Amino acid sequence: MITLYINGTKTKVDADPGTPLLWVLRDNLKLTGTKYGCGIAQCGACTVHLDGRAVRSCVTPVSMASGKQVTTIEGLAESALGKTVQSAWQEVDVPQCGYCQSGQIMSAAALLKENPHPSEAQISDAMDGILCRCGTYNRIRAAIQKAAGMKGGAA
Ligand code: FES
Ligand code: FES
Repeated sequence: MITLYINGTKTKVDADPGTPLLWVLRDNLKLTGTKYGCGIAQCGACTVHLDGRAVRSCVTPVSMASGKQVTTIEGLAESALGKTVQSAWQEVDVPQCGYCQSGQIMSAAALLKENPHPSEAQISDAMDGILCRCGTYNRIRAAIQKAAGMKGGAA
């Protein structure tokens, strides 16, 4: 049994320690907001937070999350910053098909936590490897800038 703290709730899962965290989230815990894209750390669709930092859950063995705080898109709005990022996403109306968007939002929230007012270049650096087949990149950037400027948000 591996003990995880998922969105603030202590959970025990019966999984092989090498199982990717993504599969434990989706299959064992039915938290399907985190998406499978490539499975090899190349697209960012599976991004979650591990102790507040963005990680690619498709290549993170569940044993690495043992005893740590895991935040998924389902729990993001429990923090003020998470709420702000989601509001900015809604205001800018970012998604097209939506498939990549939980990874985009989780990556953006991790960026804004570390750096509440990122420059254009810093946004590019942080978001570069998070792929969107629908090409919503300009709206993603606009939503990050909006969240950074929102009262009570990223600051
Ligand atoms: S599914 Fe994890 S990076 Fe693509
Ligand atoms: S919104 Fe469709 S892949 Fe990003």
